[in-house]
Amino acid sequence: MIKNKCILITGAAGFIGSSLTETLLKHDNLLILLDNYNDYYPGKEKQLKDILSKYSQNSDYKLIKGDLVNYSTLTNIHDEVDYVFHLAAQAGVRYSINNSSAVTYNNIVSTVNVFEYSIKFSSIQKVIYASSSSVYGNPVYTPVDEEHPKSPISPYAVTKLCGEIYADLYYKEYNLPITSLRFYTVYGPRGRPDMAIRKFFNLMQQNKEILIYGDGTQKRDFTYISDIIDGLILAGEKDSAKGEVFNLGGSSPIEVNELVDKMYGITRVQKKIRYIEKQKGDVELTHSNISKARKLLGFSPKVNIDVGLKNQYKWQTSYGL
Ligand SMILES: NC(=O)c1ccc[n+]([C@@H]2O[C@H](COP(=O)([O-])OP(=O)(O)OC[C@H]3O[C@@H](n4cnc5c(N)ncnc54)[C@H](O)[C@@H]3O)[C@@H](O)[C@H]2O)c1
Repeated sequence: MIKNKCILITGAAGFIGSSLTETLLKHDNLLILLDNYNDYYPGKEKQLKDILSKYSQNSDYKLIKGDLVNYSTLTNIHDEVDYVFHLAAQAGVRYSINNSSAVTYNNIVSTVNVFEYSIKFSSIQKVIYASSSSVYGNPVYTPVDEEHPKSPISPYAVTKLCGEIYADLYYKEYNLPITSLRFYTVYGPRGRPDMAIRKFFNLMQQNKEILIYGDGTQKRDFTYISDIIDGLILAGEKDSAKGEVFNLGGSSPIEVNELVDKMYGITRVQKKIRYIEKQKGDVELTHSNISKARKLLGFSPKVNIDVGLKNQYKWQTSYGL
């Protein structure tokens, strides 16, 4: 576990950033928590502040409200940073299809600024870049390993791949100790409201119809949030991860129809499902091969879908969304 370090987390108020913050706060670190609280979905600032009031007895933290597309947001940080977890991005595959320029500008300029800032500090032991399984597009074989061809089918996925190419450039040309992680659909407490599991539970709670894109036979490799946090921290700790790219997935894909059955089993409400046209940017199957992460990072996903869904539902009912 990373302890007694100065850690910059970008996108700290988001789903994954706030969960990482919660974990690292428990281990005597100085956290620099940076976010612009974008308006993609509400409640982020409060979410982060709730975590800080609950868990900050062991650690110090500094909150920075700022936009990473402005380089000065980073140069105003005067601490000797040891680790950077770069999670800030405009997320959402579907959103990116109608907002291509804004997503491209935000994700690529922010990422280059973070890398540019990081090479100026010799104290930095590791930069972790949050990439995405969406870089692969529709798989030509499964399970998908890191060498699989990259064929993004949304502007969001292109920005994530572009960030990886920059990561490689900064590693090779500037010796930046960087690791890219390709997350597979993350879910769990604080899951984003635009993501299927949170949306579906929300609608079920209100006894409303849920919409499934396509016929529901598409499969997704869902990954529980605490497994992603483990993977992030392992990648931060391991020297052998420098300059590498890893898949982080649950590696047990499930059909959307089966997922929804499980969710109805948990909520015990009457099924109301409507199937609608498949959306642009959606892939048919995601299935990670995580052998490399198992071998080099010691990554091992622990939370299965049944437990994960129950945890998320419990959180959602208590959170009131
Ligand atoms: N959630 C997933 O399933 C998933 C899957 C693959 C990859 N990822 C990647 O993981 C990272 C975190 O995703 P998330 O689900 O927590 O998303 P999120 O939207 O909950 O969090 C992203 C955070 O980044 C902040 N942000 C965006 N642009 C910024 C900017 N220019 N300056 C400062 N802050 C900015 C947002 O306000 C937000 O709080 C993202 O990079 C995303 O692309 C997520």
